[in-house]
Amino acid sequence: MTILVTGGAGFIGANFILDWVATTDEPVVNLDALTYAGNRGNLSPLDGHARHLFVEGNIGDQPLVETLLRTHGIRAVINFAAESHVDRSIAGPAPFFETNVMATLRLLEAVRSHIGALAPAEREAFRFLHVSTDEVFGTLEPDEPAFTEETPYRPNSPYSASKAASDHMVRAYAETYGLKALITNCSNNYGPLQFPEKLVPLIIHRALGGKELPVYGDGRQVRDWLYVGDHCSAIRTVLGRGAPGSTYTIGGNNQMENIALVQQLCAQLDARRPRADGRRYAEQIRFVTDRPGHDRRYAINADRIGRDLGWKPAMSLETGLRQTVDWYLANEAWVETITSGAYRDWVRRQYA
Ligand code: NAD
Ligand code: DAU
Repeated sequence: MTILVTGGAGFIGANFILDWVATTDEPVVNLDALTYAGNRGNLSPLDGHARHLFVEGNIGDQPLVETLLRTHGIRAVINFAAESHVDRSIAGPAPFFETNVMATLRLLEAVRSHIGALAPAEREAFRFLHVSTDEVFGTLEPDEPAFTEETPYRPNSPYSASKAASDHMVRAYAETYGLKALITNCSNNYGPLQFPEKLVPLIIHRALGGKELPVYGDGRQVRDWLYVGDHCSAIRTVLGRGAPGSTYTIGGNNQMENIALVQQLCAQLDARRPRADGRRYAEQIRFVTDRPGHDRRYAINADRIGRDLGWKPAMSLETGLRQTVDWYLANEAWVETITSGAYRDWVRRQYA
């Protein structure tokens, strides 16, 4: 048996594959288009590994995906591949709809064609796990209860609208074609290998570079942070024991205002890599123009996955952030490699 992971050269996908190879005996085929966010080097610990096959290609390439499904006897697809950065979706929505909607449709078509040719028992056992986000639910008021699997979809950004559309497509394939699908809606991840366009690695990278630390608006927006390793264990759990046709909301029960998170990162850096001039990294914080349509608060109620599947996060936010800061300090060469060329252009335009 083999699984197909899409987007496995990105942040969560790479963490997932590294964990998968370390914790199971099952081979994994990794299909990734290597966009700006994909980095083959994220998988370098697996170079030459017998149970990891990297294929550079697009999930929208239906013949390629059909060939991979057939020739590797794939029993499950875990779909991480997506355009994932909200600010980029605001600057230019089209790639988000091309990948997260149209290419995902082609992926689903490849799977539909493949399972149509399987024996009934194999078709019954086949799983399609779609990795989605809490952003599809829109925004919460400060005192509103956290998102659950029953919360209506109200996406506010082009990114979240494209992810919502993909969730609806997966649901429709389950209802219409009998695809044994699972959807996970997860909150903000942080940890090793995250591309430094996202808040946590962006702040660490810019702080060390002596640059201003941009906090959007008043910085009082709330996110519910989850360590990436805990997200990966949740996905393994849902793949193994989740009820086909179900969705699971996943979160770390770690709600925090952005400004508090940024201050915490600055304090961690003060302790580990003090500024040469003896001043505090927090002095680099600047409140900048807010993100248009900025969702004020996300929070996840993860009771269902806890109750039905026995999953809970293992990492506390404090330890997870400390380990993440340590990882970035120990892997400055990795950051340097991926913050050249196109990355610099993006930062110049976004934070001009
Ligand atoms: P990422 O941007 O770091 O990685 C995305 C990966 O997908 C990259 O390797 C990229 O090359 C690949 N990719 C993009 N388009 C592709 C295509 N057409 N075909 C094949 N590969 C393609 O994203 P991430 O943060 O690792 O997120 C992974 C998934 O998890 C996404 O679907 C995202 O919506 C979801 N998610 C992310 C978070 C988070 O906090 N990062 C939280 C919840 C859900
Ligand atoms: O909630 C899950 C989502 O989390 C995922 O679906 C997305 O793929 C992922 O990118 C993330 O989206 P966010 O928009 O919440 O993450 P980001 O790291 O871009 O921003 C986190 C918060 O920090 C958000 O409120 C915006 C704010 N922010 C972000 C950046 C990049 C700043 O204040 N300054 C910044 O420079």
